[in-house]
Parts: sequence; C-alpha cells; structure tokens
Amino acid sequence: MSFAPCCAGLLLTMLSAAAAQGAVVRSPDGRIEVTVDVGERGAPQYSASYRGVEIMPAGALGLRFRTQPAFDRGFRVTGSSSSSHDSAWEQPWGERRLMRDRHNELVVQFASAEGPTRRFDLRLRVFDDGFGFRYEVPAQPGYDAVDIMEELTEFRLEDDPKTMAWWIPGRRWNRYEYLYNTTGLDAIQMAHTPMTVRLASGVHLSLHEAALVEYAAYVLDHRRPGVFRTSLTPWSDGIRVKTRAPFKTPWRTVQVAPNAASLIDSTLILNLNEPNVLGDVSWVEPGKYVGIWWAMHIGQATWESGPKHGATTAETKRYIDFAGANGFKGVLAEGWNVGWDGDWFHNGSQFRFTEPYPDFDLKAVSRYALDHGTRLVGHHETSADVGNYEAQMEAAFDLYESLGVRQVKTGYVGDAGDIRRPDASGVVLNEWHDGQFMVGHHIRVLQEAAKRKISINTHEPVKDTGLRRTYPNWLTREGARGQEYNAWGKPVNPPEHVAILPFTRMLAGPMDYTPGIVDLAFEGLDGKHRVPHTLAKELSLYVVLYSPVQMAADLPENYEKHPQAFQFIKDVPVDWDESVALTGEVGDFVAIARKQRGTSDWFVGALTDEHPRQLTVKLDFLDPKASYVAEIYRDGPEADWKTRPYDLVVERRPVTSADTLDLRLAASGGAAIRIQRTH
Ligand code: NOJ
Ligand code: CA
Repeated sequence: MSFAPCCAGLLLTMLSAAAAQGAVVRSPDGRIEVTVDVGERGAPQYSASYRGVEIMPAGALGLRFRTQPAFDRGFRVTGSSSSSHDSAWEQPWGERRLMRDRHNELVVQFASAEGPTRRFDLRLRVFDDGFGFRYEVPAQPGYDAVDIMEELTEFRLEDDPKTMAWWIPGRRWNRYEYLYNTTGLDAIQMAHTPMTVRLASGVHLSLHEAALVEYAAYVLDHRRPGVFRTSLTPWSDGIRVKTRAPFKTPWRTVQVAPNAASLIDSTLILNLNEPNVLGDVSWVEPGKYVGIWWAMHIGQATWESGPKHGATTAETKRYIDFAGANGFKGVLAEGWNVGWDGDWFHNGSQFRFTEPYPDFDLKAVSRYALDHGTRLVGHHETSADVGNYEAQMEAAFDLYESLGVRQVKTGYVGDAGDIRRPDASGVVLNEWHDGQFMVGHHIRVLQEAAKRKISINTHEPVKDTGLRRTYPNWLTREGARGQEYNAWGKPVNPPEHVAILPFTRMLAGPMDYTPGIVDLAFEGLDGKHRVPHTLAKELSLYVVLYSPVQMAADLPENYEKHPQAFQFIKDVPVDWDESVALTGEVGDFVAIARKQRGTSDWFVGALTDEHPRQLTVKLDFLDPKASYVAEIYRDGPEADWKTRPYDLVVERRPVTSADTLDLRLAASGGAAIRIQRTH
C-alpha cells in the first residue's frame, strides 16, 4: 500500500529560498510551516505557523550533559535534506484500521561553529495534523557514554490572556491522577503532557511526545511567560538520561487543529512510532471484561484475606458464570495472591506473584473460565516495588501462560518518585514512575509477556506515547483519574471530567477508565461518593473513551437491576474500523462516531458536562447507499444527574446518512447510539 509521492520538488525549492535563514518545511496541505535555524549566540531554535499566522514563536533546542560540552549555543546549520512520504499501514486493533502516514520530512544538521566539533541532527516531520521532531546525536569523539542533565527544548506559546490550557500538574505525588485545570497559561507551573491549549484564534494545540523509549519522560516547565521547557524526569541520582552516542530522543510533538473536535481525529502520535516488532500478534485479543474490582473500591469486599476477601474461588466462579452468560471475554480477580494483608500500599515487597491465597484455587478458577468461554484476567499489583516484581516476573508470566491467561493488569500504586529498585549492590533506590528506569521496565514487561502471548493493561503507568504500535500487546493503561475516584475520591470526578479527557489524556492513547457503573448513586443520591452522570452518559463512555479492553465495572447484581442499560454494554464493541469526532469543546461536550471492526454498524457516544444542552449530530458518516436502524439510549425528560440519573429512554428509528439526530442531553447527561445496517 502506498500513495503517490507528492510535493518533494516544491519542498526543495522552498528550502533553497530559505537557506539563508535556516530551513523550512510545510505540511502536505501547506497549512503548517516549521522553520529551523540558529538565533542569537548560535542557539538552535525552531518556530511554527499555521495558515500563515505564527502559532509558536522561536523556541530553543538543545541538550546539556554532565561531563561533555553542551549542545546549546555556538552552533550553525551545516546542511539539510528533505523528503516527502505517503504510505498506509494497518492497526491490528484500534480506533481505526487503516492509517495514512503522509508527511514532509526535514533533517537539519547542526555543528558547533568553534572548538572541537560537536554535531547533532534535528529530524522534523510535518503532517497535516501537526509536527514532531527529535534529536539524533551521531557517534562522535568524547560522547561514548553520555549523561543528559537537561534537555533545552522549548514550546513557546503566545502570551495572550485569551489563550486557555487544560492541564494536570507534573512531578507531584499522585502521578497523572489529578483533576484537570482549565486556566490561562500564567497559572501553570509544571504540567504533564498531553497538555491541550486553545490559542486566542481558536486554533487548538496539544503538546506531547511520541515513542518514549530509552529516555526519560518530560513535564512542561513553565520557565518564562509562555515559554515551556521539557523538564526530563530524573533518575534517583539526579541524572536525567543515561545513554551513549549514537542515540535519538523521543519525538517532541505538537498536534495542531482548527477546532477541538479535529484534535481527537489526529493520528500523529501513532504515525511517529515504529512499526510492530512482535510479528504475528493475532493472539492479542481486544474485548470486554468484568471482575472482582468495584466491590473492593466501594468497600463491600477486600483485597486482603479475611471474612470479606473478594477473590475467593466461589465468588470468582460467580463472575465467570456471569461473564459466560453475557459474552464477556475476561474476568479479573484482584487480591488473589499473597501480599495484600496489612498496608498493601506500602508493602510491595510482600507480594508473591505465583502464590494464591488458600481460598482462591487458581487452577480450578482458570479452568472454569475456559470451560465457560471466557478467561481469567491476571493481576500483578506491585505497590511500586519493581525490584520485587522483576525478580518474580518471568515465573509469574509462566504461570499465567500455563493457565491460559492472555491478559494481565499490572499496577504500580505508590507515590510518584517512590518506585523501589535495588542497584547492583542491592541498595534500594527510589525512582519516578516516568523516569528512564520505568520506561525501560515497561518494555521489559511487554517483552516477557509477549513471549507468552500475554497482553498488558498498566495502571499507575508511565504516560502513553503511542508504543502500542510497536508493541501491540500493550493494550491499554490508566494514567488519569478513572472511575475508581467515584468510589472513594475526595472529591469524586466532577461531571466535566469525562468531557475533558477526550481532548487531553485520550490524545495519548487508550485508557482503562472502567466505565459502566449502573448503580450510580450507591451511597444514595446525596452520598459523598457516586457517579455524577446520568445512566445514558455512563453508557456513552464506551464509545467516547476509547480502549480495546473495556470493563463492565459494576457488580453482576446491579446489571440485573438495569437490563436496558446492560443491553447496550453487551452490544457495544471495543474494536473499530473508523472513528470520527463529530463535535465538541474541551470540557463542555463531545460526540464521537465509530464503526465496528469488520461490520457495517456504527456507534455514537455523546456527553455533556454539568450543563444540559441540545446537540445536533449529522449522520453523514453513514454509507449514503444504505439504510439503518438507530437504537438510541438517551436521557429521559426528567433526567438530571443529581436528582433523576436513572431516567433513561431507549427508542428505535430508521435512519440514513441524510438524517440528523437532535439529542437533548440532560445536566451531566449523554446519549449512546447503536446504528445497525438493515440493507
Ligand atoms: C489502583 C488501580 O487503578 C485499581 O484499578 C486497582 O484496583 C488497585 N490499584 C489495586 O491494584
Ligand atoms: Ca489508579
């Protein structure tokens, strides 16, 4: 599969005209233009414009090392080359099947103007939906072993009071599990990526990174008004990255969209990742799962052994019966293994990953699952003691493989910076969840799991940078405040939270949010903890928050009380041919349509924040030659998340691509729609 090459000639002409100042490259559609050159004192820099208007003024580029001279100033551009690419590739599973990688590439060579030669290249790829660049440092005298102390990359944004940002704080104890802030730039100190920004012009940007391997993640450090520097997460000894030349950094990415909804359709992050290295991945199985999980979060059961122990043989079999009867592919059982007794948040060294509690018959339970057309989903909670986990990891995966387990949920509960790992002499050191050590750890997990045809769902992970393309067994992860906060959060996730996630966290990749709580007000309507959504909105999450594995998170007995809502949860797929963001504003509302993988059926999810609103959704994504019937799960006339969250109406009507749907969304309401082709 490849598309006709285009624009290479045009690009080269442009380059020679601009050669005096540096090098310029444009997106295939010509709208995004990025210039790379050197500024004052020979400092490498880049800037960007969109539709002829500057969106990012000149921002610095560079690296500083512990013992070698820095790549920061005194440089000149010694050459550049460019090329155009247009190809297609396929996702084994995903929110869309066919991917188009169409970009113009520019490689700029920098060399120090004085003293011993220091060299690096900047490789830049400009797509219609944004751009990415990375440093490529060739082998050169004196740079064999390199400790990077700082990366100087800046993202400069216009310092305009009308610029808005959606962000969570970086380098704080709770990793990525913060409520999003909606503020001007001036309120930001350190922010995680993806960070989403709406410029005064209405253009939306998302700052992030792609293909984070053999390096540390970065947070955005707001150094001067509008100037954000990549602050790399350090090792326990303060060094940010330990490497050797030649090396290349992850891609620094800027997604650019004319409006909020288009940001969701961006494919930039995946296009900047390397192709699948695992070969045949037909064993990677997307699917829905249930599990012994919510019961612990709402305090009905415990992970630890004792009278309320959740993961008993009998209880797991009850969930397996339920999964088998309703078509769920997996049954998670948390708290099955020795180590949860006492203060499990802080006793990671106690976990035994091959030793079940006596009241959990691992073999019998996994056999029972296979006999009922489902599989046990494994669970490895490490409580951040990664040393303890790595010592047992291979045996732990061997065991699961021998039992037919195909998916393992991992967990790294512990404060950011408190990952425990022994050094070569056995001294326990503390690392960050997003430092170079953990970046490497997650790859080790994926490789060991892949050898045994096991896929991974990581909780308390490092942020997603699109590595599912390279390691398709990295199905999903947490990495944001998920449903669990509605069980015990102080406060719970507010109604706007899931109206922000699609435009922020979800731009990085799939999330195991664990939707599908149907007993929304489990402590009563006035309870401190509850799901602050209507039932229709909770259903919409299956379409809005993409993940190839989705949990039906509530208790079986609660689904039995809500058969209508449960029907949608059973029907909604998790794997798609196409996805289209129909409309949305960050933090206010969103509507997304997705076409079920391998069928002609579509699903739509729409949701709003605390404000009721009317959404008009055009069905022009449907095949114009076909007829369909829409099954609409919507807020009833009295629906309101506070007072009448269960007021759900389900209706069916014939539709075609010429129709529009007028959806009335209640306060914190939504709609979930299944559109089946009839002929
Ligand atoms: C935090 C995870 O996000 C949650 O899903 C899990 O139940 C607990 N850790 C225990 O592992
Ligand atoms: Ca968590």
